[in-house]
Amino acid sequence: MGNAGFPNDFLWGASSSAAQIEGGWQEGGRTPSIWDIAPAKKVKQGESCHTACDHYHRWREDVALMQKMGLRSYRFSVSWSRIMPEEGKVNPTGIKFYSDLVDTLLAAGVEPLVTIYHWDMPLWVYKKGGWLSEAIIPLFQEYTRVIVEALSDRVKWWIPMNEPGCFIMNAYLQGVHAPFRRDYLALSKLTRICMLAHGEAVKTVRKYAKQPVKVGMAFSTGAYVPDAETPEKIEEARRLSMEDGCGLMGNRWWMDPILAGKPVRAYGVYSSSQRDMEQIHQPLDFVGLNIYTPYNYADWGANKQAPAPGTPKNSLGWVIDDRCMYWNVRFVYEKYRLPVMITENGMSDYDAPSLDGQVHDPKRVDFLIGYLRQLKRAIDEGIPVLGYQHWSILDNFEWAEGYDPRFGLVYVDFQSGERIPKDSARVYKKIIESNGSVLSKEVATWVPDSLH
Ligand code: NOJ
Repeated sequence: MGNAGFPNDFLWGASSSAAQIEGGWQEGGRTPSIWDIAPAKKVKQGESCHTACDHYHRWREDVALMQKMGLRSYRFSVSWSRIMPEEGKVNPTGIKFYSDLVDTLLAAGVEPLVTIYHWDMPLWVYKKGGWLSEAIIPLFQEYTRVIVEALSDRVKWWIPMNEPGCFIMNAYLQGVHAPFRRDYLALSKLTRICMLAHGEAVKTVRKYAKQPVKVGMAFSTGAYVPDAETPEKIEEARRLSMEDGCGLMGNRWWMDPILAGKPVRAYGVYSSSQRDMEQIHQPLDFVGLNIYTPYNYADWGANKQAPAPGTPKNSLGWVIDDRCMYWNVRFVYEKYRLPVMITENGMSDYDAPSLDGQVHDPKRVDFLIGYLRQLKRAIDEGIPVLGYQHWSILDNFEWAEGYDPRFGLVYVDFQSGERIPKDSARVYKKIIESNGSVLSKEVATWVPDSLH
């Protein structure tokens, strides 16, 4: 085991998505997405994403904050209905919005990472069948072409889809995310169409890119943390993480076809076919991992453990255990051998300004340091990790959970729109400035008031 530390060109960044931060839902020629018309009773407290963080108007201020924090990268998504408000129509105002954003990011020294689809399907696409119809494949391809032609002279990093496992599960099986469907029997069909569309999008990015690009999928992923670091326990954790139980549902189901061209059968209701593998298995430059919590406590695996009383959790009840970062990265790399990008990692809390006007978030500070130390462990063992995009840059619209779960490094007052960088933003700046070397010191010695 060496002690390589973070690579010099490591992409220290933060993440967001269009529906969760932009607002301006009816501005600049945009048409509604399936999230804009979510029935009030489906979202906590009847909240909507119509204004969100008002990033559509405040984006310059947001980029200035990123620059102040020293971010080297920023992962954001493009709103499909801003770019193509109806079938066959490209909206120049929408293109200009993202083009200006990219220019401003680059001028601020922040590398843009573009997610093409992060769950906000245009209503017009949904009306044509959404993920249940193969008609979406050419529509998604065309949207991808338009955005790649517009931005790829400046954008090198492309993520065609965010967490398909999650949007299929939440939106079409459990019916808790837009479009709130329960189509259990359509599981194989939905998965197949999504994967085919992804394959097509990857080809399209490469075909129309104006410079060499890096393309990867952002997977919803997880791993079991072994009970002890013995070869037997590690092997058991690997099997449960990558093959069976949660590992089948959360990782293999999506990763085997997309990353390895291997069909998967599961639960007697799902199977993918060898015939589709050529289209689905498009070479990727990296695997994007969205990592939050270990599988040890996941509801939908066999082997579920109850967390011990007092186990640290975020405000959504997800167990905080930084070791899952190391094991997740290691197990995925050992199996698929692709460079890793942490496309999301973070924690929600009920953050609020204190009497001094600052937002103190010591739990998030510890979370950040702990998870990054575990990521460093993976890097020190020789796993190529390209970057870390903290979820999220701003507190934002957490889908059906509304605005209560705050994930941001920057606090947002959703009434006034005011932004207040939290303590974690200042700590992250220090981490970035030191290229991660400050992580190895005792936290208490370097998180004093002077950071405020
Ligand atoms: C996954 C999703 O990509 C993102 O949209 C969401 O807000 C975070 N994780 C936190 O749940």
